[in-house]
Amino acid sequence: MKATNEMKNNTTASLLSIGQLGRYELPTRMIMAPMTRMRAHGDGVPSDMMVTYYSQRACAALIISEATAVSAQGVGYMNAPRLYTEEHVRGWARVTSAVHARGGRIFVQLFHAGRISHPSLLPGTGLPVAPSAIRPKGRVHTPEGRVPYVTPRCVTDEEIPRLVDEFKVAAQLAAAAGFDGAEIHAANGYLLDQFLRNGANHRQAPYGGSPKNRARFLTEVADAVASVLGAGSTGVRLSPLHRFNDMSDSEPRETFTTAVKALDKLGLAYLHLVEKDDAPLVGPRFELSRLRALWSSALVVNEDYDRVRAAAALARGADFISFGKLFIANPDLPRRFLADARLNSPRSDSFYGGDSQGYIDYPFLSADDGASSCEAQSA
Ligand SMILES: Cc1cc2nc3c(=O)[nH]c(=O)nc-3n(C[C@H](O)[C@H](O)[C@H](O)COP(=O)(O)O)c2cc1C
Repeated sequence: MKATNEMKNNTTASLLSIGQLGRYELPTRMIMAPMTRMRAHGDGVPSDMMVTYYSQRACAALIISEATAVSAQGVGYMNAPRLYTEEHVRGWARVTSAVHARGGRIFVQLFHAGRISHPSLLPGTGLPVAPSAIRPKGRVHTPEGRVPYVTPRCVTDEEIPRLVDEFKVAAQLAAAAGFDGAEIHAANGYLLDQFLRNGANHRQAPYGGSPKNRARFLTEVADAVASVLGAGSTGVRLSPLHRFNDMSDSEPRETFTTAVKALDKLGLAYLHLVEKDDAPLVGPRFELSRLRALWSSALVVNEDYDRVRAAAALARGADFISFGKLFIANPDLPRRFLADARLNSPRSDSFYGGDSQGYIDYPFLSADDGASSCEAQSA
């Protein structure tokens, strides 16, 4: 029994220790993963519910916001937030102020959906854009219901500086809205990931072909965002082996070692790795752990971590763990780990869209459970 308690204390101690992420000293190793919840207004302005939701979770060492479109052309989901108008800035400023008032920190996740969108969601009902005119398998939610994806329009090389600039302007607006930094969403099959992986990118140079060319757009975006916010306030998210949104790559090791080496030269705050591995077993296996040696600053890992697995990942060389569904259901997750308290279970039927149910009504620990400051403030 004594040994078990000591083991628990050790796992909790490492997770609740101070860690450096870029320019920030964070109070624990527990980051809230970015999660699209579709509770913004129809025009992408954050709602009152979002202010409550994020401030309830200010106990996270860092909150990474849900994917936030950098332009009207980058929208992929109804009622997801955006960041390209003054109204968006004002809406997000209410969120960041509420998080800061509770002692938290929040980065925005900057996102462009690329081909994972639909004309009915886009200005002038134009086609979604992508590195190549390849239609993804699957269906998209539109105002008319779920429909198959369309074949996207291939962007020209001349358009790419404008796309880079959209991320740069969004970074300027993020600073105006009071965000502490930005995470560039280059994971999960959206535009930047579409450029990286050769299942979606059939272009020639300068933005296609070799791994170096496929990483060029992402590197330019990261450089542009870091030039606004500072490299120490800029992170990148990658999901090298995740098939989500019909992604594939015939040479993931070459693709991602090249991309990570190029990004590392920018001195960014962190690399956020989605470790999900559902890629087909073709070619040589690629161990994601090899990327640790290529990355100089903080490494954040994600996918299905609980307290014990998270502590083991820290012991293996990760610096932070991001928790997704556990933070949806447990706004006071660090406190629950500290108190070794029971966890609420996430309700998946309210993940995407809806009202306050399954969004801002998950219970905090009560005083009887040993609750203190963070959740007491948020109650
Ligand atoms: C409801 C929901 C929405 C998500 N939205 C995003 C998103 O906007 N951006 C992103 O990078 N990942 C998104 N993800 C993936 C999560 O960040 C995370 O990778 C995933 O939930 C696995 O972590 P977990 O096992 O700790 O939940 C989402 C996941 C869920 C469950």
